[in-house]
Amino acid sequence: QAGVFTYDPGFTSTAACDSTITYIDGEAGVLLHRGYPIDQLAKDSHYLEVCYLLLYGELPSAAQLEEFETLVTRHTMIHEQMHNFFRGFRRDAHPMATMVGVVGAMSAFYHDSTDINDEHQREVASIRLIAKMPTIAAMAYKYSIGQPFVYPRNDLDYASNFLRMCFSVPAEEYEVNPILARAMDRIFTLHADHEQNASTSTVRLASSSGANPFACIAAGIACLWGPAHGGANQACLEMLREIGTPDRIPEFIARAKDKNDPFRLMGFGHRVYKNFDPRAKVMKESADEVLELLGIENNPTLQVAKELERVALEDPYFAEKKLYPNVDFYSGIILDAMGFPTSMFTPIFALARTVGWVSQWKEQLADPQLKIGRPRQLYLGATQRDYVDIENR
Ligand code: SDX
Repeated sequence: QAGVFTYDPGFTSTAACDSTITYIDGEAGVLLHRGYPIDQLAKDSHYLEVCYLLLYGELPSAAQLEEFETLVTRHTMIHEQMHNFFRGFRRDAHPMATMVGVVGAMSAFYHDSTDINDEHQREVASIRLIAKMPTIAAMAYKYSIGQPFVYPRNDLDYASNFLRMCFSVPAEEYEVNPILARAMDRIFTLHADHEQNASTSTVRLASSSGANPFACIAAGIACLWGPAHGGANQACLEMLREIGTPDRIPEFIARAKDKNDPFRLMGFGHRVYKNFDPRAKVMKESADEVLELLGIENNPTLQVAKELERVALEDPYFAEKKLYPNVDFYSGIILDAMGFPTSMFTPIFALARTVGWVSQWKEQLADPQLKIGRPRQLYLGATQRDYVDIENR
């Protein structure tokens, strides 16, 4: 029964770690953050409140939330000298390359929050990362399109600040539409944490060596970039555009089934979910809402996505393989409708996932039994043999 935790002492876990942060039931399509279902959080909460929940384990009181939001808001600027880092990249660098570099470089600026053995420094690093990631992502975007950086403002909420930093230009202020800001905030919430996915496991492995928090999060960003993981939202929209019209869907379904074809349906399937990804359902509702608001509900990409989902879910092959749309299937359609280029989809995923990485990083460091992660291997190479001089080879 979803949410009922039974523990069989005889159970020999092959789990990478213990955790109290996020629970996934892949068969039932359940995702809980500190016990709260993701669909309820996406509907009734908001990203910074979910950040508080993930970081501290409980929903905040009104006073706690106000204090936390003020703290985050007042740490959204980055050190002015860090602006130079962006200028070291080519304009056409992928924003994920810029984010990996700039976040890693934070350890060269925020020395007073790199000592992982100091609880206060861990707390400061956590707030700085959550607060500054939207600014860094927006600056990576602005730099890639040759527009001036836009500074964060303290009178805007987290999602509105990010949209404005991305879309405002000196010649014209960007008026944040509250419905788009709500949709943006919901996308952040839906990506906040997801148990021991590849990038979170990367952060945990890096933190087990005692690396500083900025280096650990930069490692997570690098891992998330891959198209099988966080890069899937970019790959999915590009696939939907390549399909172009519903009549070409059978061709791509056939390729996805062909074992000799490396093509995968982007935005489909999951290592854990063998049922619907609960985040995909909320994302699909949000896509309908945003596109209707923008008057593009007949968006051809959305039509292809809905028809592809219908055809795939009716196909016995996908049912047998238990392949369902995942969180990345609809997110790209919303981000595209908001005006983001596909190259910004994964940076937005990284921005949102920062709180998950940070929460799991803190949880791991609090483990008194913490040992450096050191996976072993099954050696299949040559047996021992003697060196042969080049003349005798
Ligand atoms: C994320 O782990 C997380 O929690 C990640 C994430 C998070 O929030 O952090 O949820 C975010 O990364 C979501 C996944 C995004 N990736 C994609 O959408 C890329 C496309 N999906 C695939 O590449 C794939 O589904 C994976 C990588 C996600 C999972 O692949 P697996 O491990 O092979 O999945 P599986 O074992 O369930 O596959 C069962 C079968 C396999 O075929 P057989 O070996 O049995 O013959 O289905 C096939 C797979 O080859 N398959 C697909 C497919 N995904 C799996 N066939 C066609 N299209 C696909 N998308």
